[in-house]
Parts: sequence; C-alpha cells; structure tokens
Amino acid sequence: MTKTEKLWWQEAVVYQLYPRSFADANGDGRGDFEGIRSHLDYLRDLGIDAIWMSPCFPSPQRDHGYDVADYFDVEPTYGTLDDFDRLVADAKARKIRIMLDIVPNHCSSDHAWFQAALKAAPGSPERARFWFRDGKGPNGDEPPNNWRAIFGGPAWTRVTEADGSPGQWYEHTFTPWQPDFNWYNHDVLDYFDRMLVFWFDRGVDGIRVDAVPVLGKHPDMPDSPPAPPGLTDGQQWRYNIYGHFYPTAHDVWKRWRTVIDDYERTHPGRHLVTISESYGPPEELLRYMQGDEFHQSFAFDLMLITWLAAPIRAAITDSLDMLASVGGAPAWTLNNHDTQRIVTRLGRLNANDPAAWTGNNLLYVDAPIDLELGRRRARAAVTLAAALPGALYLYQGEELGLEEVLDMPDQAREDPLFIRSNGKELGRDGCRVPLPWTTDATTSYGFSPAPVAPWLPQPKDWADLSAERQVADPQSMLAWYRTVLAHRPLLSGDLQWVDTDLPECVAFERDGALILANVGPDAIELPAELVSGRSLILASQPDATMQLVPSDTCVWMSPAH
Ligand code: GLC
Repeated sequence: MTKTEKLWWQEAVVYQLYPRSFADANGDGRGDFEGIRSHLDYLRDLGIDAIWMSPCFPSPQRDHGYDVADYFDVEPTYGTLDDFDRLVADAKARKIRIMLDIVPNHCSSDHAWFQAALKAAPGSPERARFWFRDGKGPNGDEPPNNWRAIFGGPAWTRVTEADGSPGQWYEHTFTPWQPDFNWYNHDVLDYFDRMLVFWFDRGVDGIRVDAVPVLGKHPDMPDSPPAPPGLTDGQQWRYNIYGHFYPTAHDVWKRWRTVIDDYERTHPGRHLVTISESYGPPEELLRYMQGDEFHQSFAFDLMLITWLAAPIRAAITDSLDMLASVGGAPAWTLNNHDTQRIVTRLGRLNANDPAAWTGNNLLYVDAPIDLELGRRRARAAVTLAAALPGALYLYQGEELGLEEVLDMPDQAREDPLFIRSNGKELGRDGCRVPLPWTTDATTSYGFSPAPVAPWLPQPKDWADLSAERQVADPQSMLAWYRTVLAHRPLLSGDLQWVDTDLPECVAFERDGALILANVGPDAIELPAELVSGRSLILASQPDATMQLVPSDTCVWMSPAH
C-alpha cells in the first residue's frame, strides 16, 4: 500500500448494532447472531463497510452487555462461538467487517476474577486485580473516598468477608455490578492483551473501546476536588480528576497499540482500527491520538449541539483542526445507544435554542416535540454528516427514522441509569427499543419469528416505520440513507468552507463539489454566482432546486464547469 492510499476505516460507514435489539431469530424476545445473519443483505444494501457490535460477551445484562462476565466467549442468548464465526464469515462475504466493543474499565461482578476476589482475603492477589480498600471511620463503615458513581450513588460498595464480618469496599465508576479493574496489575494487562489477539484471530477487524477517559486512576485514590453544587452524579464525573483522566492510562493504550501493530505486522493484509469513546473537548481527545494510542476517537459534537449554523460549523472545524495536527481521520456520529435519537432531539421545538442543550448526552431539557420536523432535520443532518471527510458511524434504527420512545412505562425500563437515579434520569432504554422489520405487529414487527413480548415494548405505530414498508417507498428515510451512502464516494478532498453570508447556512466544498445545509426556518435563495455551472447531485427534500433551498434541507452540487 502506498502512503496516499487510504486505510479502510478512514472513510468507512460503520453501523453500530445493538445485538439485543436488532433481530431475534430464536423467539426469546431478544436479538441474537442468527437474527443479525438473516439481515446481512439489508445492511449490505444500506451501503455500510463495517458493523460495530455493542458488547456480545457473556453478561448478566445489568448494563446490557457493558458488564462483561467473560471476555473470551459470547453471550449464550445470542448464540455460540460457532454462530459468531459464521456471522463474521457471512458478513465478510458481503464486504462487511466486524468490530467489537471492548469494555476495559470494569467487568461484571459475575466475572470469575471478581467472584474469586470476594472470597479471597484483603491484600490477596485476587483482590489486587480490582480496587479494594478499607473504609474510613472507626469501623471502616464509610467509603474510602468521596468519589461518586456516574450512574448514581457512591463509587464504592462494601463487601462481607468470608467470615461474615463487614469488610473492605471496592470501587466502581458506574454501578456496583461493574467493579473497576486495577490497570496497574499485570494479570489485567496480560488478560486484555490475550483477549485482543483472540478476537483478531477470529476475524474481527477493529474495536470500539468503552469509557476511555475513566480508566486512569490515581493509585492512592485521594478525594476528588469538590464539583460545583447542583450537579447530578452523572454530571460530576468530569470533576473527578483522580478517579478518571489519570495519565497512567496512556501506558495502557500504548501497550494495546503495540499489540495491534504487532498483529498487523505478523498478519500482512490485516488492517485493524481502534476507536475511543471519550466525551470531551478536542484537546482532550487529541491526547489519545498521537499516533501510538488510538486510530480514531468519536467526534460527538454534532450529536450534542444546537441545530444552528454557527455551532455546527464550529463543531466541524474544531474536530478537523484537532485532527489535522495529528493527520487523523474523524469519526462523525449523530446517534448512539447512549443518546436520545436524533429525530426526537431535533424535533424538540427548542432545538435551536442554545440554552436548551445541556451538552451532556444523558440530560435533556423538556420541550414539545414535532417528530415530522425532527425527521426532516435528521434527513438534512445525515446528508451533511455523510458529506464530511472521514468516517461516519450510524446507530441502528436511525436509517428508519425511529424516534426515541419516551412514553415507555417505568416498570418496563431496564437501564441502570434510570434505576440507580430512582427515575430522575430517564435513561437510555428509549433508543434501544427492538427494530421494526415488518408491518406485522403480532411478531413485534418482525423483530421475533413468533408472537413473544420483546424485551422492551415497541410503540403501537411502528408498522409505517418498518424496514418492509420503507424498502418499498422511494421517499422513505431508509431510501434516503441508501441514496446518500451510495453517493458518498463522489466526494473527496479536504473540506474548504464557503463564505455565503446567507442566514443559518452551513456551506463547504470538497474538490469543488458544494455541500450546503440550510438549518434555518426559512427557505434560502442561492446567489447565481454560487451555483452557476453546477448541477444538483442530491437534496434531502424533493422540492429543493438550484435556486431555492427550503428550511432544514441539505443539498450536494457538482463542481462548477
Ligand atoms: C459507556 C457505554 C455505556 C455504558 C457505560 C458503562 O459509556 O457506551 O452504554 O453504560 O460505558 O460501560
């Protein structure tokens, strides 16, 4: 490969697949590998290059897979390792690569190591793989420090020792069922090195790495400086500079990169990618991307900002400038399994009021929602994001224009964020509802093969949003996603901003092609000098013309000739 040739992941379209909610082949109301396999043609026709699967390892599912009980096997309700291998092979036959979701900060409390640590004595090698500490106070009955868990409550849970006495405490960034690993411990380091190779050997081509900034911890675990008053536990995490962000984590990422680079060297033709999940400003993300840690880091800003031209432009510029300094490729994203779906976010009637955006993907300001407006804006948003240089990460169901399910009954909700915050935070179940494949409501819209309750209830009116209906409708969101993705290869070259003086307009060129999004409420008339000699490649609304771009619409035009 020459230097100028791009690696596959630099411009890939990656589809985040949430296995529990994608498709259920065995009729237990939860997704599985066979379900995924049976829809691979759908994914090929959508035009994706890779699937990133949210964790599919054995798990008690208290955080739906982000609590891993064994990193060397697959979740039995999803299938067997043979089923997994078959899925990888069948995907590959359609030129779709598989990426896994690796959770290094913590495991499940069901993991054999944690169970052994509970049985072992304080100070034992078993406990040293985690963060066990004596409590404070005369009887050790206060947590060892003031750290808070992101999903609510203290970041410490006390154990009962083997003799029945109240014992030490262990630390957990999220829930008590997700004990944090001690990344200074060599067993932990070696275990993950082996695990990476195990999955690469099975044909996996990349990994998304979970919760990257929280892994680094001060070995002495001092109290965190106080956070500003009035913040939820979930908002406070950024202030815990000793429980998260501690720089020794970089040694871990460098070690992983060595494992990966060695693997590529010894397996010619294999090109692997690592992408970090880190919410934070560009300068923070940059620390992971100096060439010897991660290949990519999600650019989350488009998912977290107001629907206004200036912040959209700033989000794009900030990511591109940051990456330019390290020669990196961005990974744009509009949705994921932790964030309210874009149709709902942008359908909020105050979506263009900066005060209505918390900047935190778990917290939303309430407002009336117009789903049709949300869908119109979502069409424009993906048309814009798909035109940017770099990779594009989609989240299952966005191609169907699904909305966030907000009116789910409390008893149906399973997200630990909802449970641990006593319902104060709605949590993320609403974007994880099983996908509607057909118009047949009796089978959960084709999610399951027979009448069976899906693990989360679906809205009553999803027949119209089903893949079956949308495949047959050239105006559907699904048809639009296919069109946009099919046209992506037409665009190449760096992004050059175009100064238009037009209100609420985001405009740029790539090798002369013009991409223009009108994110405002009024139609924009385009000046003749901007469009002369061009032709329309595509437009997110059918009534857009070369002269007039309606509200909430994005167009692509050819270079002028
Ligand atoms: C990440 C995941 C989220 C999970 C958390 C704990 O943020 O994306 O779904 O709950 O980490 O693993």
